Amino acid sequence: MQNLWYKNAIVYSLDVETFMDSNADGVGDFQGLTQRLDHLAAMGITCLWLLPFYPSPNRDNGYDVMDYYNVDPRLGTLGDFVEFMHQARERGMRVLIDLVINHTSDQHPWFQESRSNPQSRYRNYYVWSTNPREDDPNLIAFPTVEDSLWDYDEQAGAYYLHHFYKHQPDLNIANSLVREEICKIMGFWLELGVSGFRIDAASFVIEGIGIPGANQENLQIFFDEMRGFLASRQGDAVLLAEANVSAEEISTYFGQGNRMHLLFNFLLNQYMFLALARQAAEPLRYGLRTLPEIPSQCQWLNFVRHHDELTLDRLSDSERQEIFDAFAPEENMQIYGRGIRRRLPPMLKGDRRHIELTYSLMFSLPGTPLLRYGDEIGMGDNLRLEGRTSVRTPMQWSDEPNGGFSDAPPDQLTRPVISEGEYSYKQVNVAQEQRDPAALINWIERIVRIRKQCPEFGYGTLHILETDDPCVFAHCCEWSDRAVIAVHNSADRDCTVTLNSTDYEHLFDLFGDRPYEALNDNKAIPLSPYGYRWFRVNQTH
Ligand code: NOJ
Repeated sequence: MQNLWYKNAIVYSLDVETFMDSNADGVGDFQGLTQRLDHLAAMGITCLWLLPFYPSPNRDNGYDVMDYYNVDPRLGTLGDFVEFMHQARERGMRVLIDLVINHTSDQHPWFQESRSNPQSRYRNYYVWSTNPREDDPNLIAFPTVEDSLWDYDEQAGAYYLHHFYKHQPDLNIANSLVREEICKIMGFWLELGVSGFRIDAASFVIEGIGIPGANQENLQIFFDEMRGFLASRQGDAVLLAEANVSAEEISTYFGQGNRMHLLFNFLLNQYMFLALARQAAEPLRYGLRTLPEIPSQCQWLNFVRHHDELTLDRLSDSERQEIFDAFAPEENMQIYGRGIRRRLPPMLKGDRRHIELTYSLMFSLPGTPLLRYGDEIGMGDNLRLEGRTSVRTPMQWSDEPNGGFSDAPPDQLTRPVISEGEYSYKQVNVAQEQRDPAALINWIERIVRIRKQCPEFGYGTLHILETDDPCVFAHCCEWSDRAVIAVHNSADRDCTVTLNSTDYEHLFDLFGDRPYEALNDNKAIPLSPYGYRWFRVNQTH
């Protein structure tokens, strides 16, 4: 039997820098993270995704790497990393790490050599041009921040390509030496025990814009090469691609099951928010129908929010505006003209019922669920911080100074802790929520526990169920003679819904927003405002 552990993992993403500071210098570190592994294990997390922790000038939250073979000294040492890996493994947790290969920092020695020495082997590690073609503004990743894909470098006497910030020159993936370097980097971290990589900016990697003589197919084949290399070194390791692409382009990433194992479900995420904004089921149904069938060993990674903006770029202007109106009405809550820079609880005005509904959807949609640090306690955002930093504030552990994140003086923290308003660490923190059985943290622990008992959501075949209420989204996942059904009421009013299906005779409650009376028949299912229920079909246990 194949080991498809990632199809039912509970993934949790965190940035070492903002998680826990062990040495009072104001910056989170690997020793701090290691001390907090029990918190994650107790919540039932089975897989961590670490944001980049490599040495970096840190002008893009670590996504500007200057050495792929080390740990940023601010975060610890390689020794600390290995100790962390050991402790994670002891607790049954796998670790995925970010692999940033579309670009490096301009401080990376490869780029320094590339710009200063045209004869160097590193010259063609990057994409240079004396006469770049005109920009397609749609390709600029951060419109409003950068205005061109090319920047002139005095030292090199040429323009270099950069899809992201100008301090992040794009690597030339058409160059086989660069491909070898990337495999070598993967090999290094696999030896240290990681279970795979999040491929940052995967869609840009294979775009080939501006690379002389680049052939798209050849660039895409690099994903097969990466997969082959990975499999040769560690059979159960996985590749997770960050690729916000249209439904038609998705097969490029999964291939025939021989490229990426997992893809972030950007499309469904956007339709989920449209459904929440409209309080209607149809956008979710549409989103699910839009997704292509994927090879059986591949998987979606579903999420509510991650460390970037909530991008709404796949929706029409009017659909995006509906979501802005509902959840981010002020300009300061929006970013890049296409997204939202808020965490979920403030978007939903702290309405616990609505927050639960959203996570219940995310955990039950076909795929693997992803939580982000702070989700478990309902952390908020700080819109006074610039850009995406608003959602990257330090973890709130307790009501002690700095939210228990660090013993450094507050003005020395890598980023300020949220210390005012209803999302202040004084109200929202792990220690206080753990003492309160009704707190969100205990609800999250419960949904994780139940989700683990429902492998159908990860492995199964999806059936969207028709209902007689446009606000209720109902679906069933079937796998190996078992089936689970989930119903979600996206509206802020009671309802009783009928499933237009006679296939499912007995439904047994597994999970819900409150204890409901057991169903006598499944014709009429009562739901509270924003209520949700998960059922197992035809089984009592
Ligand atoms: C995607 C990452 O998620 C984002 O945070 C980063 O700024 C860009 N890639 C550039 O690396």
